[in-house]
Amino acid sequence: MAEPVAYINGKRHVLPAGRADQTLLSYLRDSGFTGCKLGCGEGGCGACTVLVSSAEADGRLHHRSINACLCPLYAIEGMHVVTVEGVGNTRDGMHPVQERLSKAHGSQCGFCTPGFVMSMVALLRAKAPEAPTEEEIEENLAGNLCRCTGYRPILDAFKAFAKVDAAAYTEEAIAASKANGHAANGANGAANGKNGKNGNGRVCPSTGQPCDCGESDGNGAIVSASKHKEEACGPLTHIRPAVEPIFPPELRKRAAAELALPGERCAWYRPVTLSRLLELKKQYNDAKLVVGNTEVGIEMKFKSLKYPVLIGATHVEELNAFEVDEGGVTIGASVTLTRIMESFKELIAVQPAYKTSTLRAVVEQLRWFAGPPIRNASGIGGNICTASPISDLNPVWMAAGATFTLAGAGTGERTVLAKDFFLAYRKVDMAPHEILVKLYVPFNRQYEYVKEFKQAHRRDDDIAIVNACVRLAMEARGGGWVVGEAAIAYGGVAPLTIMAPKTMAALTGKPIDGAALEAALAAVQEDVKMAPNAPGGMVEFRRSLAASFLFKGLLFVAQQLEAEVPAFTSPFPENYRSGKRRPCPAAVKPYERPASHGLQYYSAVPGEDVVGQPYRHQAADEQVCGTAQYVDDIKLPADALFAAIVASTKPHAKIVKLDTTAAAAMPGVHGIFTAKDVPGGNDIGPVIEDEELFATDKVVVVGQPIAVVAAETERQAREAAKAVVVEYEDLTPVMDIEDAIAAKSFLMPFSHSLASGDVEAFFGSGEAEMVLEGEAKMGGQEHFYLEPMASIVIPAENDEFLSFSSTQCPDAHQKYLAHVLDVPLHKVVVRTKRLGGGFGGKESRSAFLNVAAAVPAYHLRKPVRQAPPPARLRRNVRTSLALVLDRDEDMQITGTRHPFMGRYKVAFTKEGKLQAIDMQLYCNAGYSLDISHGVLDRALMHCDNVYRVPHLRTQGYLCITNIASNTAFRGYGGPQGMVVMEDIIDRVACAVGRPVEEVKKLNMYKEGEVTHFGQKLVGCQAEACWQEVWDSSEYSARREAVAQYNAAHRFRKRGLAITPTKFGISFTTKFLNQAGALVHVYTDGTVLVTHGGVEMGQGLHTKVAQVVAHDLKISLQQVYIAETATDKVPNASPTAASASSDMYGAAAADACRQLNERLAPYYEKMAGKPFKEVVLAAYLDRVDLCAHGFYATPDVTGFGGAMPFNYFTYVGLCSFSETPIVINRLQVACNSHAACRVG
Ligand SMILES: Cc1cc2nc3c(=O)[nH]c(=O)nc-3n(C[C@H](O)[C@H](O)[C@H](O)COP(=O)(O)OP(=O)(O)OC[C@H]3O[C@@H](n4cnc5c(N)ncnc54)[C@H](O)[C@@H]3O)c2cc1C
Ligand code: FES
Ligand code: FES
Repeated sequence: MAEPVAYINGKRHVLPAGRADQTLLSYLRDSGFTGCKLGCGEGGCGACTVLVSSAEADGRLHHRSINACLCPLYAIEGMHVVTVEGVGNTRDGMHPVQERLSKAHGSQCGFCTPGFVMSMVALLRAKAPEAPTEEEIEENLAGNLCRCTGYRPILDAFKAFAKVDAAAYTEEAIAASKANGHAANGANGAANGKNGKNGNGRVCPSTGQPCDCGESDGNGAIVSASKHKEEACGPLTHIRPAVEPIFPPELRKRAAAELALPGERCAWYRPVTLSRLLELKKQYNDAKLVVGNTEVGIEMKFKSLKYPVLIGATHVEELNAFEVDEGGVTIGASVTLTRIMESFKELIAVQPAYKTSTLRAVVEQLRWFAGPPIRNASGIGGNICTASPISDLNPVWMAAGATFTLAGAGTGERTVLAKDFFLAYRKVDMAPHEILVKLYVPFNRQYEYVKEFKQAHRRDDDIAIVNACVRLAMEARGGGWVVGEAAIAYGGVAPLTIMAPKTMAALTGKPIDGAALEAALAAVQEDVKMAPNAPGGMVEFRRSLAASFLFKGLLFVAQQLEAEVPAFTSPFPENYRSGKRRPCPAAVKPYERPASHGLQYYSAVPGEDVVGQPYRHQAADEQVCGTAQYVDDIKLPADALFAAIVASTKPHAKIVKLDTTAAAAMPGVHGIFTAKDVPGGNDIGPVIEDEELFATDKVVVVGQPIAVVAAETERQAREAAKAVVVEYEDLTPVMDIEDAIAAKSFLMPFSHSLASGDVEAFFGSGEAEMVLEGEAKMGGQEHFYLEPMASIVIPAENDEFLSFSSTQCPDAHQKYLAHVLDVPLHKVVVRTKRLGGGFGGKESRSAFLNVAAAVPAYHLRKPVRQAPPPARLRRNVRTSLALVLDRDEDMQITGTRHPFMGRYKVAFTKEGKLQAIDMQLYCNAGYSLDISHGVLDRALMHCDNVYRVPHLRTQGYLCITNIASNTAFRGYGGPQGMVVMEDIIDRVACAVGRPVEEVKKLNMYKEGEVTHFGQKLVGCQAEACWQEVWDSSEYSARREAVAQYNAAHRFRKRGLAITPTKFGISFTTKFLNQAGALVHVYTDGTVLVTHGGVEMGQGLHTKVAQVVAHDLKISLQQVYIAETATDKVPNASPTAASASSDMYGAAAADACRQLNERLAPYYEKMAGKPFKEVVLAAYLDRVDLCAHGFYATPDVTGFGGAMPFNYFTYVGLCSFSETPIVINRLQVACNSHAACRVG
């Protein structure tokens, strides 16, 4: 048998033996292609996207993007994999996609960026020589998540590759467009111009096509691509064009051969004939067939299922068949979802329309089925045979009357109706030795209509809550039209996909009218019965979805029939639809989303000064090329071990047994460490030490570390962690704020209050004109930084420790390490190059991971004193420990934004003017304090939002519960406080019967007024921002238009909201408002800066470099910032509180001031000489060319003082939305407007 071969970036790889259960991602990363990132490991984020090319039997090349995290290594045998490193790099030349993304500011933290690049490269390859449309580009990115950049710049970057209306690019059109020039370029013109392809009469300097890539609007406002449009949208300037690797000639010539690759844990077979596949399935009944591995891979990784035999089912001809006959379409079971979608689209274009109603339903359902990389890999057989109760396609096959053909060695072929195939939860009518060979989808008859439905939490790439398919065949009978045949199937309402027989019977033979609708709606309640505690919850919602799908199905059929049969008139009222005889009534209008557009305006800073210019992220080029390094990309020393945490599975329980014996004896395990192994303090916490690093007697949250395993490989560490036996005795948990209030579970010493005026006296005075009481609640929010938490700890001589950590606060990690290991701070160095996003989640919660990894690192570098020594302990070696959380562990162990509840009593005048508010804010801190008091304090100080309240008392309570410790999150309590106030304003407006925007305006702070915490508002921009966004959004006209639309539409409604905010800048703990920076000047005129702030995508390093370049009067290219390290700048505050650019910029400026003072005599002597010569002269004169700068924010008092904030930022936001109200799908339209004044 030939050796298994694949090519990666043009290089031949003989695939190693025994890796049937390894993913392509892990192989790529082990092989050094670390540009391919592990974001989620379950096909959900796209960070691992690669391009896979293969030769078809007819010699054509097939290119597609896939998720490497779900692709088994052996599945790419005989194929060419291209990673982000393979398409270009900064040294040899970048790919146009990479360069465009970098220049369009499309990469912030950069962790998602390689995935976006590869999705786009794959699309261009797959479509070549044609160009994709803007809509195709946007849909192609449905499988890629970006948490920090926002999609506007990414889409802007990629739209340069879009096919556009050729008529717009004739010389005349371009000339006319240029001549139009700025005339059409008012603020509104710019905002609206992109509706057409013709931009604002501007032409992109890069593509020569009309675009909106940026010019001033005369008010100093600049659109997205900025003043530096030559950079953002100009010609590509790569050193030399990158050359994408060609498809390897060896693979072109190679015929697909059978594979049989044995392995200790798992064997891989890849038959190339159906008979061999059937033989294998007979021999290995329990074997899993693998096409996309998008189900099997998830089962193996997240459900820990073991499959000793995997059979690749991708290379069997019969399973890849796609045949069309008079009656319908035959599809082989391994045909991918993408191929079905594309082939169906081709058929729809050539077949009579009435025959393809089912095909159109399938195409529409597939549009919202996962993302393209999943659809490119997964086969239809996998979706059917998994028998998921929420499969999006099984309802369609069942309602459409499709049939499935099964085959088994010795038992031959048999055919089953799709509606009879599903027997129970994930159980189908298929014997263990059988496989699904193909399905047959019949064409439709005339007047037969099929409509699909899916409701998910979000539209793109999400699994269904409920889905359905309705097929009604209409017949002319007795002078009218009746339902001749009805087939209705539902997913997500039972353990399996079900038909709705009573509903079908209620409709059959009946005309479609109000009576039939009523009868069907009653019957569907009988068909869709769910227990109140049915798995998946939301029972009432799911049942109402089933009814609304049915209703829409009937409406759809009536509308279709009306369009085809002139004599038929839909019985449904006019306001159910957008217009008579239109095929899309309002209630069933398909979801259409035109390509998104967004523009950003900001004031241009006059002149060419480097500060104030919109430079792109300093590391953007590295990020788009996949060479930017994150903690998990660091090459570990050869003897490095991997750590995995043994985590609590109970929210509140006594530990009655902890047995590590079996786990310690597992292969590769070097040690298992618990609280008793901690050399220093097991009690940890950023403010008070109220957490245990490893739980001792009791666990207080699911996910709490109980022990840590160190092993030679990550897999061994994880498997051993799972093998540790922990037995518990359950205690009653406190899970939410209501529980905590009932149990009085508060951390009172950290619960603060604020008051202005005299609330008690006011409510007692009788001056209140109107009073109401209320409650506002809000849940938490996952940080979802794309890079999961990671840390590496490397012990060195004399109890020194070096740690690489993905943290917003290296200083905290240093302190935790010193405390837990009982070593002084000067022996611990923590280094952080960059984070793949933080958003507050890596401010304090990452530290305990670092120290969990440190404990084994500490012990395994010298003989362990405790007995018995762990199995196969290596003595006297210095061992690095790496600990990287999987996405599911990360989400379970680390906290979220704090859920809050606000209770209030408000007094106000009959006009809606606020008189007094008495408010209690309850904050769910989780199981420990962490930094929740700071979050609560900020909520207390932001619960006025932008409104003046003469008497305001607000009391905060920190609720201690048995959920993960909640932590910093963008806004840090500010948004929670504002939400309570906005709720109050809404209710006051309702009570006084005035539009809410009038009540907001009436109460807005004026310049010089004083907040309830005593700070005077100087330079208050609340009204200015409000007015700006009011004008730019044309709010009054819109409000009127929305009212008219809503009056005319029964099943679609529009909403409009305008909201102002004010946010205080500074840490509210006074001592944190300090910063240091170290500036080294070298004799070649280059400058290395280190400061205490961490780069996590926000561009902090770029901004500080701009300050240094400005102050030293050198170019930005001469300044470099490599990393953040505790041995360069000590005692740094967390990078947080929206204050880092101010503080570190000022600290760096202080260092530059010192350097400039030292260099002044040389500038004087050497007037006109370049910086390089000046510093060389100073050096030769023995001048110190290194300076440490320091900054302490002046005058701030911290919480409790009269000036907790250095200044405030203000925002006004107007948002417009439209939603069909029969199904709860919110569509935020593209016309959101925001105005920001950021100090
Ligand atoms: C991120 C993500 C998003 C998803 N989104 C959706 C979604 O929106 N809607 C939805 O419905 N599903 C969704 N899924 C589920 C999944 O993608 C589909 O079920 C997919 O079609 C499975 O195909 P596969 O080839 O990857 O299956 P595999 O994992 O390769 O196989 C799945 C199962 O099918 C069996 N099998 C495969 N082929 C045959 C055959 N010919 N005969 C007998 N048994 C066979 C295998 O033995 C295995 O048990 C999603 C999955 C992921 C990971
Ligand atoms: S999709 Fe593969 S890591 Fe997220
Ligand atoms: S840049 Fe996309 S996740 Fe950070």
